Amino acid sequence: MPNCTGCRRGGWTWMRAHSGDATQPQATPAGERGVASRPAGNRQVAAVFADVARTHPALTVALVAAVVATVVTALLPPLVLAQVVDGIAARSLDAPRLAATYLALVVLQGLAGAGQEAAIAVFGQKVTHELRSRMAAKLDRLPAGYFVRNAAGAITSRLVNDVDAVEALFASGVVGMVTDLCQVVGIVAIVMWESVGLGAMLLVALPLVFLFTRHVQRATLDAQTQNRVAVGEANEQIPETLRTIRTIRQLGREAFMGRRYARAIDRAFLAQERSNFYDAVYSPVVITTSSVVIGVSLSLAAQGGPLGSLFGVTVGGAVAVISYVEKVFTPLSDIGMEIQSIQQAAAGVRRIGELLGEAEERPAVTDAVAPSDGSSGDVAASLSHVTFGYEPNSPVLRDFSLRVERGEHVTLVGRTGAGKSTVLRLLLGLYQPDSGEVMVLGRRAGAISPAERRRCYGYVEQAFRAVPGSVTDQVTLGDPSVTVDQVSRALQTVGLSDVVAGLPQGGNTLLADARLSQGQLQLLNIARAIACDPGLLILDEVTANLDSATERQVMEALAVAVCGRTVISVSHRLFEREGGRLVRVGEDDPEASE
Ligand SMILES: Nc1ncnc2c1ncn2[C@@H]1O[C@H](COP(=O)(O)OP(=O)(O)OP(=O)(O)O)[C@@H](O)[C@H]1O
Ligand SMILES: [Mg+2]
Repeated sequence: MPNCTGCRRGGWTWMRAHSGDATQPQATPAGERGVASRPAGNRQVAAVFADVARTHPALTVALVAAVVATVVTALLPPLVLAQVVDGIAARSLDAPRLAATYLALVVLQGLAGAGQEAAIAVFGQKVTHELRSRMAAKLDRLPAGYFVRNAAGAITSRLVNDVDAVEALFASGVVGMVTDLCQVVGIVAIVMWESVGLGAMLLVALPLVFLFTRHVQRATLDAQTQNRVAVGEANEQIPETLRTIRTIRQLGREAFMGRRYARAIDRAFLAQERSNFYDAVYSPVVITTSSVVIGVSLSLAAQGGPLGSLFGVTVGGAVAVISYVEKVFTPLSDIGMEIQSIQQAAAGVRRIGELLGEAEERPAVTDAVAPSDGSSGDVAASLSHVTFGYEPNSPVLRDFSLRVERGEHVTLVGRTGAGKSTVLRLLLGLYQPDSGEVMVLGRRAGAISPAERRRCYGYVEQAFRAVPGSVTDQVTLGDPSVTVDQVSRALQTVGLSDVVAGLPQGGNTLLADARLSQGQLQLLNIARAIACDPGLLILDEVTANLDSATERQVMEALAVAVCGRTVISVSHRLFEREGGRLVRVGEDDPEASE
């Protein structure tokens, strides 16, 4: 039987190995905000299970068959045992055959259990693979704003921990619960069939034992959580004490530190004691309960009369019901653990559902849209009466307008935080304006599809963002449509050809092995931007944080790169060298912006 969250002790499922406090609602990771469509997202999680079942029919059938076989093979052996005993009592010749059947069933039970585990593991892996693929594809379609609202760690946690939790939900939660419920119901029905009175007693005892089991499981989990916290605190104190040992000695604080450490280990000890207490008490209580149920019903059967007929069973039947009553508490205790895993995984399902239900980037409009401001084809880029803020009701740009002619070099200026980089991000189509219009080369900025962007504009920012791979990959970004010629022309333009040619494997050298300097990386950044020969260059503080020699080198490369192109930049140095027009961003000088 699947039981990923606990381990068996003395026949009962126990929770020692369980980690995480499922009794506490899981906190939403920091930095997350409301989402677009949670129910739709949850449906998408369910759809993943349905799709995996549909696309792997043999696996699905195997899983269902294994569950049925597990339940049936778990229920049948005591019935056969009853016939064996009755056969022996009646000196029937059938006894050896029945004994062989019993043995075969026990073997089959083991095989069915193993088959179920294997089917669950394979099915769970397929679900995990599909979920992660869909989530990764979804991330590609989400607007930049999503990554601003959600910290990278929180997104990673959804893809890793939450998907693992959903797999556990399936394995040790849902499938295990179906199997265990079927077993409990089956056992009660068979016992009822053998002895109505004993069946009725079971119906009374089972809910009570279940409530007791849940109480013990919760209390144990609580004690284990407290123990982990206390052990963590105690462990932290050791290096802390060693680090500050001189100060402690000097100030004579040994007793204080000793008391602090003693308190932490006392708390850990008490929590462990509580956990041990429940551990020790649970099995005897359940064993005693099952013994009382069996003892009382057999005594009543022995009384004869109406009670005797109500509780009466054959000798073999008595053996069977004793076996069933002993068996019934194991799946019952498993159900408690499964409820726990389902509760824990529910938060994971919710968070994955949130991600899958997020509103996506507006679909790219591929046909050219005529600029609504009526400007001619001479306009390379424009912002018309744009208002935009990253957070609602907190605009960074208010009614901001800018018009850049083809071939013009425009430099944005303004105090720090005025919104210069924001203007560039709007031009890149990373954000949609709250009102107004952002046009690039006669198209709405947000409507230029990702595939077209590199051919419309090149973007260089202060930091070089490496992609995994070779030096050439840094320029192509893995795009097979960027030709070898384009790469070598771009490297030539920025003056990196000789450097790259001198690398052990030329452009195929892994970036990590190329050991390029800060300035060379920034040159590579510029080569990446111009590789597809875009007509517009968008540059954001390209030379900030570079020493003067490196800055000069980058400036020289830029002077060549900007030739014959429209340039919108945030770089005073470039303005000083290349000239052009200054545009002020921010409310300090609203009249200065166009
Ligand atoms: N991702 C973001 N989420 C929320 N607010 C942001 C985000 N990026 C920028 N801001 C805020 O928007 C305002 C404008 O930022 P922006 O980066 O455009 O300024 P800037 O003019 O480029 O400044 P600097 O000269 O310092 O680079 C700032 O107040 C900043 O705090
Ligand atoms: Mg900036």
